[in-house]
Amino acid sequence: MRLSVNVDHVATLRNARGGHFPCPVEAAKLCMASGADGITVHLREDRRHIRDHDLERISAEVPCRLNFEMAATEEMVAMAERLRPQACCIVPEKRAELTTEGGLDVHNAGPFLAEAIARLNAAGIETSLFIEPDAAAISAARQLGAQAIELHTGTYAEGPPHQRAAQLARIVAAAGVAASERLHCHAGHGLTYDTVGPIAAISGIIEVSIGHFLISTSVFEGLPAAIARMKSIIAQNRGG
Ligand code: PXP
Repeated sequence: MRLSVNVDHVATLRNARGGHFPCPVEAAKLCMASGADGITVHLREDRRHIRDHDLERISAEVPCRLNFEMAATEEMVAMAERLRPQACCIVPEKRAELTTEGGLDVHNAGPFLAEAIARLNAAGIETSLFIEPDAAAISAARQLGAQAIELHTGTYAEGPPHQRAAQLARIVAAAGVAASERLHCHAGHGLTYDTVGPIAAISGIIEVSIGHFLISTSVFEGLPAAIARMKSIIAQNRGG
């Protein structure tokens, strides 16, 4: 299982003072040197954390599997076509939200989503859709031409503990549907040391994307230690 580290919140901290540090590009380099398998960044329409130059520099300077999280807009598709990251994850984006609040509404997304996927595929980018663990959404992702899905783990990871088993069961079932649709299956949102294990144990899920917890806990532990600990929990639950 790959661990893609989302460095958006290094930029959040930098932007709090409007200066140059901490630098998300340096963070991405350190993550890769510390055992991360890839880097994720979300360039939002309002540029509240990652800025264009961060994405451009990570793309140019950090050898990694770069996963560019983006809304399905002309501006972002054009950026992806220019930078050609290895992967793009299309997410819904609302101006007022604190973070991505749910999966894409693939059934009512409108014609531009299919065009965006087609253009990203044509640029040689692996395109995934961030969706709820729901069979109909997974089939729709396949029909839209995506090669991968990222299952939203927020309800599982952040919901009340007594609902966790039921939410996990939805993710297990969804990973099975993704396999039958021959889609690569990723997962992410809200994962921590405590919640990543059961997700790592699902063999059909090949990548997790983790940001806020890793960057937050690295204030206390340091990025290399936090990444090493997360990788070790993933490996233990993967049976290796
Ligand atoms: N995957 C997607 C699609 C996301 O939008 C986010 C949040 O930016 C993540 C994964 C990572 O979530 P978190 O920061 O809670 O680990």
